[in-house]
Amino acid sequence: MIDLIHVTKRFGATTAVDDISLSVAQGELCVLVGTSGCGKSTTLRMINRLIEHSDGEIHIDGQQIRAFREETLRRRMGYAIQSTGLFPHWTVARNIGLVPRLLKWPQARIRERVEELMTLLGLPVSEFADKYPRQLSGGQAQRVGVARALAADPDILLMDEPFGALDPITRETLQEELRALQGRLHKTIVFVTHDMDEALRLADRLVVMDQGRIKQQGHPLELLREPADAFVESLLGGEDRGLKEAALLPVSERMLPLSPRLLARERVAHDASLREALSIMLWRHAERLTVVDDEDLPIGELSLRRLVGAKAHE
Ligand SMILES: Nc1ncnc2c1ncn2[C@@H]1O[C@H](COP(=O)(O)OP(=O)(O)OP(=O)(O)O)[C@@H](O)[C@H]1O
Ligand SMILES: [Mg+2]
Repeated sequence: MIDLIHVTKRFGATTAVDDISLSVAQGELCVLVGTSGCGKSTTLRMINRLIEHSDGEIHIDGQQIRAFREETLRRRMGYAIQSTGLFPHWTVARNIGLVPRLLKWPQARIRERVEELMTLLGLPVSEFADKYPRQLSGGQAQRVGVARALAADPDILLMDEPFGALDPITRETLQEELRALQGRLHKTIVFVTHDMDEALRLADRLVVMDQGRIKQQGHPLELLREPADAFVESLLGGEDRGLKEAALLPVSERMLPLSPRLLARERVAHDASLREALSIMLWRHAERLTVVDDEDLPIGELSLRRLVGAKAHE
């Protein structure tokens, strides 16, 4: 869906992006991470042509990006940024409806779409539709920014730290929403974040950048288990990598069938992560947990030995 082939961007003497190649398949969620100034935002903005690349080629659906008309790009790509970029003198509803209006959708359809998105993002229409950006909290404004990016139902979403100002609970809700959206509608998403837990949770493909170059890319588990070098390893969390890996693996991965022994008192859901299971063990001083299904019925057990990956029988 998106191909960057030996792409370089120079600003005068600065090389912001240095010969990167990257392919994002349709329906894939690609996350760019890296230290400040490594070229993440520049990469994103070259994809929607807010910035013209200096060298190399960028293709969307096999077509040179330079061949696209501006309107086509706008329709196909949603763009959400941390600072939201909302128009201060426009109401929330008008801001969200920006692209559909540029695309000349009928009035009624725009209104319907705006209300649908506000509901999806937890912004009650009666309360927020007529507010102005300055009357919103940072998190509310960010949600308006995300709604605006989704408005014309683009097949590509470019998101530059879109959840930066949100509290952890809203943030997690929106992460799940984004995941669901991508699963259901097969959106292709390129997402920039500084939050490694967010990156690991969201990414099908994780791309680590440093000084304008791509250091390593692959599935999060791949990078956690085999970081290419010390930089990638430390960016991914250094000694914390074990916990970060455990956060990505479900309890069902290490669960054993129920044994004839007494059921352990403490329980964990089969679809919880191994990290959550470990936390329960620590908190409850328990070395064994009963694994339960969606109906809360016991289906297996998990011991500390199994959790840490010991292969031998107990
Ligand atoms: N318009 C510009 N003119 C000159 N230099 C620029 C311009 N935009 C970005 N740069 C430089 O290009 C480099 C990459 O910037 P970019 O914004 O892509 O980094 P980033 O990875 O998004 O950083 P952050 O995590 O801080 O947002 C930086 O050194 C920056 O100073
Ligand atoms: Mg940036």
